[in-house]
Parts: sequence; structure tokens; C-alpha cells
Amino acid sequence: MGNTTDRDASKRALHARRASSFGAHAMDYAEHRPDYPLAAIRWALEAVPTVPAPIVVDLGAGTGKLTEGLLAVGASVIAVEPDDGMRVELMRRLPGVRALEGSAEEIPLPDGSVDAIVAGQAFHWFDQQRAFPEFARVLCKGGTFAALWNTDDMRVDWVAELGRVARSDASAPPPELGDAQLPEHPLFEIFERAEFPHTQRRTAESLAATIGTHSHTLVVSPQQRAEVLRRVTEYLRSRPETAEGEFDLPLVTLVLRAELRDN
Ligand SMILES: C[S@@+](CC[C@H](N)C(=O)[O-])C[C@H]1O[C@@H](n2cnc3c(N)ncnc32)[C@H](O)[C@@H]1O
Repeated sequence: MGNTTDRDASKRALHARRASSFGAHAMDYAEHRPDYPLAAIRWALEAVPTVPAPIVVDLGAGTGKLTEGLLAVGASVIAVEPDDGMRVELMRRLPGVRALEGSAEEIPLPDGSVDAIVAGQAFHWFDQQRAFPEFARVLCKGGTFAALWNTDDMRVDWVAELGRVARSDASAPPPELGDAQLPEHPLFEIFERAEFPHTQRRTAESLAATIGTHSHTLVVSPQQRAEVLRRVTEYLRSRPETAEGEFDLPLVTLVLRAELRDN
């Protein structure tokens, strides 16, 4: 029993360390992480009226990767991000966007003030028990919450093997997000799920740099981080698909969306 409690506490501590690991590498993050396909963003916001421009919160906005896509589909975006390093990089890249310090559990906006809340690559870091009531507070009637993730397309052999090669001591299984594991909350309608094909143009070196912005390589020792990134580069240089020049990293963008329930 004691051991289980210790294990749970150390899992929670690692999760918290990973959630707050990105800011120290914000410029690399902005340079090397993929953007989001506009079709995925449009699907996420399908139920949101588009005229006039919907007010959309990009929650856990980081350096603004999803913010840019939201702007491209015509949204009026408010970026909310707890990490100073990430938020400063977002403000440097997108000076016209309103960027606020805040979190999923404490969104610094009035009740019923936004049409949608979206989270790119961030929902799994939230304390969902506290976040869902906060979403419901901030959303207007009929508002939407959506979560997006760019995931590596594990159906492709060299990509699946890369996932194994890139593991560190801090790696955890990716969040289970199949139809059977959709989030549920009484304040929201049943979640819907869709997938969109996507790619990111990379070289062996730039894909290693992308992996160097993943939290499981950010929270380990400098020695282990260097070893993982060396292994990744060596692996990519050894595969015919990725050895020379530029290639497309196959991605699947996963989107979950749900409307606020009418009470
Ligand atoms: C992997 S980054 C994603 C950044 C950006 N949305 C994107 O798509 O590139 C995860 C972001 O979530 C933020 N984050 C972590 N915990 C959070 C929380 N509880 N509430 C809001 N954001 C959080 C981190 O600071 C980080 O910027």
C-alpha cells in the first residue's frame, strides 16, 4: 500500500515536471513543432457561429502554433498560457494576439464570455476535474470545447520504430484517446472524435530537434537527453526513408470536441 502511494506520488510529480518543462526551450519549440491542419481546426469549431468572428480561447497556447491556425480560419483568439517562457515567445511571434497568464484550472476571463475553448497538445496536462467546470463557466451558451493533438502515424513502420528509439526514462504511454476512452463530463455533451492526415517536412537533424522539444527529453539529465537525441539521429540516418535530405514525417491530427450542455 505504502509503495503504491509512493509510486502514485512520484508519477504525479513527474507529470507536473513534464507539464511545466517546455518554457526553457520555447524558441526551439516554436521552430520545430508542427502546425495544425486547417481542416482539423474547422472541424473542431464546426458548431461555433462564424459571423461575427468567434471568440476562441487557445488554452495552453504555448508559442502560438495552434493560435496561428485559429487566426487563419477567422477566429478572434485569446491565448492563455501559464508558462512565462512560452507566453513571451508567443507574444514575440504574434504581437497582435491578446495573451494572458492563466491555466485550464483558472482561466482569467469573465463568465460566459467566449464561444470556444481549444487546446493543442495540452489537454492531457490539465486537471480535468477542475478544468471542465472552469470551461463551462467561461463558455457562452452552446459553446464548444475541443482538444487537438498531432500524433506520429504509428501505422508507418519507420515511425513506430522511431517511437521506440526515442524513449527516455521519463517516457509514459501516450494518452489513450480511442473511441472507448473519450473524456466525459456531466456539463458537456458526449465527445466526438475525428482524425486528419497531416505531415511535417523534416530532415534527420530537424526531426531530432523536434523530439528535443518533447517533455520526455526535457526532464531527464543532460546526459540522457544527449544520448536519446544521438540515438534518434543515428537511427534516422540509418533508414532509407530518412537518411538523406528532406522527408515528410507522417502525422495524424486527432481532434475531440464537445458542446456545453444546455441546463
Ligand atoms: C506541448 S505544449 C502545446 C503548446 C501549443 N498549444 C501547441 O499546440 O504547440 C503544452 C502547453 O500546455 C501548457 N500547460 C501545461 N499545463 C497547463 C495547464 N494546467 N493549463 C494550461 N496550460 C498548461 C504548457 O505550459 C505548454 O505551453
